[in-house]
Amino acid sequence: MNQSTGTSYAKIILIGEHAVVYGQPAIALPVRALQLKATLTPRRDRQRLIESTFYRGHLEVAQFPFAGIAALIDALQAFFGASTQGFDLRIDSQLPPERGMGSSAATATAVIRAWYAAYETPLSRSALLDWAAVSERAIHGNPSGLDAATTSATAPQWFVRGQAPQPIAFPTSGALVIADTGTMGQTKAAVASVAAKLKAAPAQYQPLITGIGAAVATARTALAASDLPRLGAALDESQRALHALGVSSAALDRLITAAHSAGALGAKLTGSGQGGCMIALAQDARTARRIATALTTAGATAVWTHQFAESEALV
Ligand code: MEV
Repeated sequence: MNQSTGTSYAKIILIGEHAVVYGQPAIALPVRALQLKATLTPRRDRQRLIESTFYRGHLEVAQFPFAGIAALIDALQAFFGASTQGFDLRIDSQLPPERGMGSSAATATAVIRAWYAAYETPLSRSALLDWAAVSERAIHGNPSGLDAATTSATAPQWFVRGQAPQPIAFPTSGALVIADTGTMGQTKAAVASVAAKLKAAPAQYQPLITGIGAAVATARTALAASDLPRLGAALDESQRALHALGVSSAALDRLITAAHSAGALGAKLTGSGQGGCMIALAQDARTARRIATALTTAGATAVWTHQFAESEALV
């Protein structure tokens, strides 16, 4: 084992969360301003020590939310025939945890890259996504794979469960304002609550899943045509369905209303919801600043702006 590093990014789901678990498409983008870095240093003894904001201590006794990553590391060590190799693993993250920004998938991606680099082994995209599924399954139960696909990408992604993610072009104008409610989202619980609703009353809830899929298709057409008002309408349409599925929250709804009042073309929760972050679509940088101020006034604990031009440059 050599000393090594692995990096990944925060992700924002533009549209399609939850429905993507049931085979509908989704569009998500990496946010390169928010990075996560894993630094792996071999030890002479057998201790396996973790230093991160969500867990600090011996790998063997790691609990939620680090237990899924611990299972992944055990599997990686077995794969490299080095189960008794001691190490220090340091994780430096700019991502807020459990806010719908893909913190767990970003951690998995950076850890997998660090391990492959430590053993000087080439890593294909599909192998990376297979490895990330190990910890994502342990953490989330039934992950679509969207989070791992996006946190490991450098360009916006069109994603359908079970298929290879495709880079997708974005307009050069427009911006997303991202705001944190300051409350934790609970991906596993939110995904399970949607599953329970679909089981109990499919006639009521299945059309919402299909409706989100249709809004994602509209968003794709709008992105290709640089039609931001149409994109905004698709975001609003998906938020109505997510609200009806029970995954919004009072804090998310308050920020979404504030964004609309400040001139957003559309606004919705992002990620699993029931807390976490929301996004608002702004026509231009000036409107984005106005929306950001309104969101802070409405109680957002953090606000970021992502210009679409940053995404386009990466395709
Ligand atoms: C979580 O970031 C996104 C969800 O659609 C779950 C998943 O895709 O695995 C809610």
